[in-house]
Amino acid sequence: MKARDRIEKLRRRIEELNHAYHVLDEPRASDAEYDALFRELQELEAAHPELDSENSPTRRVGAAPLEAFVAVEHREPMLSLANALDDDDIRDFDARTRKFLGSDDPIVYTLEPKVDGIGISLTYEKGRLVLAATRGDGTTGEDVTANARTIRCIPLELGGPRADLPALIEIRGEVFTPVAAFKAFNDRRSEEEGRYANPRNFTGGSLRQLDSRITAQRPLEALFYSVGHVEGLAIESQSAMLDFFRAWGLPVADPYVRSSADIEEIVRRHHELEDGRDEVPYEIDGTVIKVDEVELRRVLGSRSRTPRWAVACKFKSREASTRLLDVEISVGRTGALTPVAVLEPVALGGVTVSSASLHNMDEIERLGVKIGDRVLVERAGDVIPKVVKVLVGERNGRERTIAMPNRCPACDAEVDREPDEVVLRCPNVSCPAKLKGAVQHFASKDALEIEGMGEKLVEQLVDRGLVKSLADVFGLRFEDLVELERMGEQSSRKLLTAIERAKTRPLGRVIFGLGIRHVGEHVAEILASRYPSLEALLEADEDDLVAVHEIGEKVAHAVVAFAHEEHNREMVAQLIAAGLAPEVAKKRTGGALDGKTFVITGTLPTMGRKEAENLIKRHGGKPVGSVSKATDYLVVGEKPGSKLKKAETLGVTVLDEDGLRRLVGEAAGG
Ligand code: IVH
Repeated sequence: MKARDRIEKLRRRIEELNHAYHVLDEPRASDAEYDALFRELQELEAAHPELDSENSPTRRVGAAPLEAFVAVEHREPMLSLANALDDDDIRDFDARTRKFLGSDDPIVYTLEPKVDGIGISLTYEKGRLVLAATRGDGTTGEDVTANARTIRCIPLELGGPRADLPALIEIRGEVFTPVAAFKAFNDRRSEEEGRYANPRNFTGGSLRQLDSRITAQRPLEALFYSVGHVEGLAIESQSAMLDFFRAWGLPVADPYVRSSADIEEIVRRHHELEDGRDEVPYEIDGTVIKVDEVELRRVLGSRSRTPRWAVACKFKSREASTRLLDVEISVGRTGALTPVAVLEPVALGGVTVSSASLHNMDEIERLGVKIGDRVLVERAGDVIPKVVKVLVGERNGRERTIAMPNRCPACDAEVDREPDEVVLRCPNVSCPAKLKGAVQHFASKDALEIEGMGEKLVEQLVDRGLVKSLADVFGLRFEDLVELERMGEQSSRKLLTAIERAKTRPLGRVIFGLGIRHVGEHVAEILASRYPSLEALLEADEDDLVAVHEIGEKVAHAVVAFAHEEHNREMVAQLIAAGLAPEVAKKRTGGALDGKTFVITGTLPTMGRKEAENLIKRHGGKPVGSVSKATDYLVVGEKPGSKLKKAETLGVTVLDEDGLRRLVGEAAGG
């Protein structure tokens, strides 16, 4: 094959794989296969500079840095949207629209999520991407083409039948960062590099890099929902437009788009999305309702900056201002002292918030926060509320500086500050606060899973001296428990059963439960597959440990340091004497679910997601995040998301919670 043909073929194939992976979420090749094709293309291009093309996927790694961004004018302005603040505003929008059109006929609306990202406009000429511009002020934005080219889900050339391609089209949408990818990126950043406050800031910062090679390394994604100027194609409705986008390979907000001629159904759908916003992989701050038909939109027209045919419906805010009343210091199981903000209670996205984490002293300094300040509090996704900003203008001079204590608030021991760490730690091995944290961790879902052993109960057990070490958990008696607050006979008996069951949890979870530094769930499982018992693990030396695949020096050192502490050895001996007999990971054969992969979607009626995952793992199965052809089972609960649809198209077996129980041979409730 001639080099030219091979290069073209490789470029097409790689872009197809990019599309499958980034837009359809259905990988069609292994990483190794993809890398091999990519390398072959890079080598051929290097050998044939005359066949260079800026639309080659090899260019997605970024180009030489720019001096500055160039301003570009949008051919058609990027408008804003009017807001609807509650359900009646949505109904008013419908009534207004019909009145304006002078029609009693029902109007078809399309509802989409309002993505909290950075607005972007892509210009394609004869299907080729020629310009990407930020929204800017709506009239003029910045040319970020080099950066947009590195975003894998943005097609460099539109696909589909050539005949359908418009001569020129401006396609509008939003660049964003999925929440999980944002968290992973931030977690890997050191304090010095600086962490980003939220996915939106991160997206903006990444998209506005003069060096597109940096943008290329950021996990940016995009989706598209509107058209500006267009030549040579008639688009009759929002639904038809989204169909064109899909055919061209542009990502849209599937599966969250809905059309209906019934405004009440649209209102319901808005609330469904609001309730399920944490299940959406990216941040959304509302929904957008649009008149579907383009001809009706033409009649409705625009006000100065906002169209009459669309409205943005905001979700309840997750940001509120309140007063910082005090700072309390909490001591965790590792002894780390964490400042916790005590707040004047404030309603935030449906719950009342009265405390928030302040992380550590550096964070307090960064915020410049003082006691008595009015502060902005944010609650995002599943994370605990945090103080994000001080409203300095509201100060009256009576605010007080926050000081971290020199002594542990729980046991009065003098605290340590490790040289290269920002955290203060209590060094006392028998500090009651550390013990409480350790017991809670030991009993938690991912460790020994002692149902009913929550924070409040652990507090009582430690405060009353019933639990002085982890091993004491196994020595608890019915008489001790019934005496406690909020514990009846039934809950005491239930708890004792749960404790009994916890004695034979798999070794990996027990190792995790010990709370050894740097030993998370995954590392604990690796250790459990190498060492047959806790005793064997405690005898291991660093060389031994480092020889284990995936175990590095940091972990090896932490395990040995743990084993060398006399009180830890004693604790483990006590645990074993009290009946802890971890189930050893057999080289798993004969597990009912051996080698099977599972995806869970929706809310399971009784089990909880973690519990279902643990059940699957216990029987040799593997829970994974997204549905693909390789998935064996989809477990569905209430309000399943897009995964159900996808599983059905791919022919994946669908089960409910009881189906899962039957599959592993456990009776419901057991
Ligand atoms: S339509 C003329 N649809 O929200 C209509 N906008 O407040 C143009 N946005 O600047 C916008 N998700 O950046 C539309 N599904 C969606 C959207 C959306 C997010 C942003 C967009 C726009 C702003 C309007």
